[in-house]
Amino acid sequence: MTVLVTGARGNIGSRVVTGLHAAGRQVRATARDLATLSVPEGVQTARLDLTEDDVAADNPTAFAEALKDVDTVFLYATRTTAAPFLKAAHAAGVRHIVFLSSPASYEAAEFRGPIGRIHRAAEQDLAASGLDHTILYPSWLATNARRDWGAAIRARKPVELPYPAAQCVPIHPDDVAEVAVDLLLPDNATHRGRMQVLTGPASMRLDEAVAAIGAGLGRPIPVREISREAALARREPWMAAEILESLLDSAAAAVGRPAPITNTVERITGHPARPLSTWVAENRTDF
Ligand SMILES: NC(=O)c1ccc[n+]([C@@H]2O[C@H](COP(=O)([O-])OP(=O)(O)OC[C@H]3O[C@@H](n4cnc5c(N)ncnc54)[C@H](OP(=O)(O)O)[C@@H]3O)[C@@H](O)[C@H]2O)c1
Repeated sequence: MTVLVTGARGNIGSRVVTGLHAAGRQVRATARDLATLSVPEGVQTARLDLTEDDVAADNPTAFAEALKDVDTVFLYATRTTAAPFLKAAHAAGVRHIVFLSSPASYEAAEFRGPIGRIHRAAEQDLAASGLDHTILYPSWLATNARRDWGAAIRARKPVELPYPAAQCVPIHPDDVAEVAVDLLLPDNATHRGRMQVLTGPASMRLDEAVAAIGAGLGRPIPVREISREAALARREPWMAAEILESLLDSAAAAVGRPAPITNTVERITGHPARPLSTWVAENRTDF
């Protein structure tokens, strides 16, 4: 049987594909545009858009080809309902889904915001689907540092932070993917069927995370505190305004509050969660 990986081009999805393949699983890697996807030899590929129009019309056959012979799925959240895909997965005989959710789904600051709503809606769809599922709640992905600060650091400009004292727990994407792979392997049911809150090893302020990147690069990176209004005015076009508002709400609520730390990564993978410095050392050329 086959594991279907949605978002196989993503930071975590790509690692899940590699990990499952290395573990000897038959993998079907999917993306909305297959031309953008590169996978290890032996990995199958299929085009899959969870939000296609015919899918919105609740046409379960739309996914039948991608789901052929699939018993397990790694699922990303999207902005629309996951119900049609889950209905098709049920019909195709899928037995277990690992869903990449977000703590925004339950944390007070983002609960009512768009990130919370999107992830909670998918969790509700999963609960209603009748499929066995495990929900992953990773903390602040280390890849956020590249997404949000990479351009400034590369240009040797200050990193602008509206809430430099907000605390986060950076988690290495390899740790999230390793946990997902463990849960997706056959007959490996120990940790399945519930919520898994995954964090890195240490809570730190956002300006301390910037300093950790500077330490890894061997040069200090200046930080400039900016107002919330300035952050909103500098929004990148790819980030929706309501998403940025929600992220700012979350950061504001995390000022001076150490973020919770769990031992889930170590419990499931057998090794401690990787520190931010490991991710920085592996990704120096991105900065
Ligand atoms: N940022 C954080 O700190 C944080 C914390 C907790 C949880 N999370 C969760 O983790 C996610 C980010 O993970 P990441 O860095 O691995 O993401 P990423 O690199 O941005 O990749 C996202 C993937 O989602 C896929 N996708 C998007 N819309 C789709 C659709 N309609 N149909 C099928 N696939 C679709 C994309 O597929 P294509 O290749 O087809 O574009 C892409 O591969 C967030 O979206 C959130 O759900 C994030």
